[in-house]
Amino acid sequence: MNRKEFVKNTGLATASLAMMPAMNLFAGIVNPTVRTAIIGVGLRGQNHLNLLLRRKDVDVVAICDIDDRMLTMSKSMISKSDKKMPKVYTGDPYAWKIMLEKEKLDTVIIATPWEWHKEMIIGSLQSGIKYVGTEVMLGITLQDHWDVVQEAEKHNAHVMMLENVCYRRDVMAVLNMVRQGLFGELVHLQGGYQHDLREVKFNDGEKAIGGGCEIGDKAWSEAQWRTHHSIYRNGDLYPTHGIGPVAHYININRGNRMVNLSSFSSKARGLHDHILKTCGSDHPNAKINFKLGDVVTTNIGCANGETILLQHDTNLPRPYSLGFRVQGTEGIWMDVNKSIYIEGKSPKSHQWEPQQEWLEKYDHPLWAKWSKEAEGSGHGGMDFYVIHAFIESIKRKQELPMDVYDAAAWSAITPLSELSIERGNETVEFPDFTNGKWMYRKPVFALNDEF
Ligand SMILES: NC(=O)c1ccc[n+]([C@@H]2O[C@H](COP(=O)([O-])OP(=O)(O)OC[C@H]3O[C@@H](n4cnc5c(N)ncnc54)[C@H](O)[C@@H]3O)[C@@H](O)[C@H]2O)c1
Repeated sequence: MNRKEFVKNTGLATASLAMMPAMNLFAGIVNPTVRTAIIGVGLRGQNHLNLLLRRKDVDVVAICDIDDRMLTMSKSMISKSDKKMPKVYTGDPYAWKIMLEKEKLDTVIIATPWEWHKEMIIGSLQSGIKYVGTEVMLGITLQDHWDVVQEAEKHNAHVMMLENVCYRRDVMAVLNMVRQGLFGELVHLQGGYQHDLREVKFNDGEKAIGGGCEIGDKAWSEAQWRTHHSIYRNGDLYPTHGIGPVAHYININRGNRMVNLSSFSSKARGLHDHILKTCGSDHPNAKINFKLGDVVTTNIGCANGETILLQHDTNLPRPYSLGFRVQGTEGIWMDVNKSIYIEGKSPKSHQWEPQQEWLEKYDHPLWAKWSKEAEGSGHGGMDFYVIHAFIESIKRKQELPMDVYDAAAWSAITPLSELSIERGNETVEFPDFTNGKWMYRKPVFALNDEF
């Protein structure tokens, strides 16, 4: 049998065994219309708003932001939809608290700067909301992460980190392959956030991307707040795009867990250099000393013996890549060279094979079923899936495919990496946010074609 025939016969046969199609899409729905609010309708919040407005099963009843321009953009988007204009809460950094008091909500989505997330998640839980979706990062300090976990437990409520990369098409096809044993037993994994953000961290106050070297009040969108984290902190500041998919591959918090971590940071040159090149040495921001090393690498050990390498690389010229690598006793996938090698199945030993045919054969059933709905939804379609999974779970009042323990473990990599670097690259222990439940919990992410 040649390789093509093998993939055709074996791949499809096993794919159908491993992924059961959901029998009835409407089964278990107890809340057909989800009353939703968004805190933070900046550029990411508007992305979520757009997806929510497209859904018949969602009412966006309120939005909250403190930036008039972001609100105007959001209102214009809503006017063009067939949905009613939601109530707008603004004028005060704590207007969201009034919104939570006044509105009857099934869920809230938080897409504000990182330093607000913990307070807004906890405030939402305390207001009685049972489902909170938060953009990446649960909090700043390690204690913030414990606080969110404990508050969710106290209220018997659900918190999902809206980690869209877990739903990227190639990432999900590889998950399908992992679950069917194509790579054998997994041994080593890599991922990261390798994205030249220099023009996101500095702009001209008008555009979100580039055109100047402003930060804080003189800037707009992420340069208003994100850049300050590069001035005052040194660690892997954005681990979740890399760790989310990897965590699903090796069942973190569900039969496995991260046990320790050590991080190294390179020197910090890229951001200062960018200011000199773009705005000259007389620009006031040329005086800033940036603490964040340009490339931060983090090694993580897992209870089941796997190692994970994460990379955070946002200050230097480079094309975008999350740098995934999945390696086991039978083969390896790497996303940078878009290649795969499965021993005994790839045509030539010791030689990379293009990934495309494998990805098509093992396309995840979720993508096979929903790709039309996902079209044009942002980040190549994956943004649709994260909101879809969140809303469909709420409609059924069931647990979320990624829960507060996942969110805490993934996001805690940031304060742990900061601690490790501060202590001279010491290996630090990874807390067990599940308090031992990781030993019994079963995988729930993307088990069928429903959501
Ligand atoms: N998953 C992804 O692909 C992705 C992409 C971009 C951003 N993000 C995440 O989304 C979040 C938001 O990022 P962004 O790019 O939209 O930033 P942004 O600066 O464009 O938007 C943030 C918004 O929050 C608002 N805000 C700040 N404080 C507030 C308060 N107290 N009350 C109400 N609103 C407040 C700001 O006015 C702004 O409109 C961050 O966590 C970011 O990391 C994720």
